[in-house]
Amino acid sequence: MNQALFSYIAASVTAYHAIAQTKRQLIQAGYEPLYEGQTWQIKPGKAYFVTRNQSSLIAFRVPDGDFYSFLFAAAHADSPAFKIKENAELSDPHYIRLSVEKYGGMLCAPWMDRPLSIAGRVLVRCSEGIESRLIDLRQPCALIPNVAIHFNRTANDGMAYNPAVDMLPLYGMVSEKGSLRRRIAEAAFAEETDILATDLFVYNPQPGIEWNNLISAPRLDDLQCAFAALTAFLQAKPSRNFPFFCLFDNEEVGSQTKQGAAGTFLSDTLARICHALTLDTDTYQRKLAASFFVSCDNAHGVHPNHPEYKDQNHAVYPNGGVVIKYNANQRYTSDAVSAALFQLICTRAGVPFQRYANRADMPGGSTLGNIANTQVSLNTIDIGLAQFAMHSPFETAGADDTAYLVRALREFYETGIQTACDSSYILR
Ligand code: CO
Repeated sequence: MNQALFSYIAASVTAYHAIAQTKRQLIQAGYEPLYEGQTWQIKPGKAYFVTRNQSSLIAFRVPDGDFYSFLFAAAHADSPAFKIKENAELSDPHYIRLSVEKYGGMLCAPWMDRPLSIAGRVLVRCSEGIESRLIDLRQPCALIPNVAIHFNRTANDGMAYNPAVDMLPLYGMVSEKGSLRRRIAEAAFAEETDILATDLFVYNPQPGIEWNNLISAPRLDDLQCAFAALTAFLQAKPSRNFPFFCLFDNEEVGSQTKQGAAGTFLSDTLARICHALTLDTDTYQRKLAASFFVSCDNAHGVHPNHPEYKDQNHAVYPNGGVVIKYNANQRYTSDAVSAALFQLICTRAGVPFQRYANRADMPGGSTLGNIANTQVSLNTIDIGLAQFAMHSPFETAGADDTAYLVRALREFYETGIQTACDSSYILR
């Protein structure tokens, strides 16, 4: 299971590539693409997916007959990285550096002294207009060197990293001048002069590894959950519900984009499905009232050297199973209703679960569950898998947990969920 996860992560070097990899798996499983700019002809018993901005994706299987409710599992496709600015090369008499800015809130220190590569999308002028092409240079072509300890004797006492000074990746010696654009053009099978614009990122190309029942890899937040949810969605046997798998971009920067969870992608998709299947508003809203959304994003495992950051009774560990995340201020959506339902599903699946809450004096993080609810409002839970070093370019999690999440979400997708009155459910 983790080897398949590592392959998924290695292919998913940016959100665009994560969506492309997910599309490949869906097409292989017989899913048909739909396009937002075209009429949707969808049929009962068939499976489809739609993308927006090449960086968010929604897949669904239309039930063959009546169904109880919509079941959603969602994760995010993006990870913190360095976005390369349009005029990328910073040259001086000796070096070429890359002009970058931070995308998301990364830990800066672990990005240093490791081989980095470049990937993203390139907008190319073609005979009929413009075409978007994904590129991945794959091999190491950038590195952010540390300052030697001899020049900064207090480096080990804590560093303040200025992204405009300390975090600029070295691309090479001045002899490399102009070669980045040439390599990008080659990778895009385009002439340099036909490149109109780019969305390129510096990423960590290191492969994932399994060691002593732990896994370490780039982008585990949130590709471990994305992979597990996709796998569960594809493995789940049909039941009397309408299953969805969602992968959203821009969670790391607040989700407030056309393709992010705060945008209309999911609500638009649901509206178009209802239109194509001639489901009236009353039927849609009845189904939605019984529906359930699982927001999947990794959680903070207790740090081995810093256990003091944990909440005494809500500490979670790698290989401890699925983490249910709570927050009184609803940065996590879990409440008694959604937690009760999901716990029952974990128990049915034979999957262990653990409960996470921040220490009351620490703000902690947030994710896409409550944001998605502002567009499509329904009972929702926030879950994840315990990991260390969140937002480092190389993160560590439990080797058993990927399979636990697959089992729990497969059980979720195979459960018929019905509701007769407010906040009560019947599980079939
Ligand atoms: Co995340």
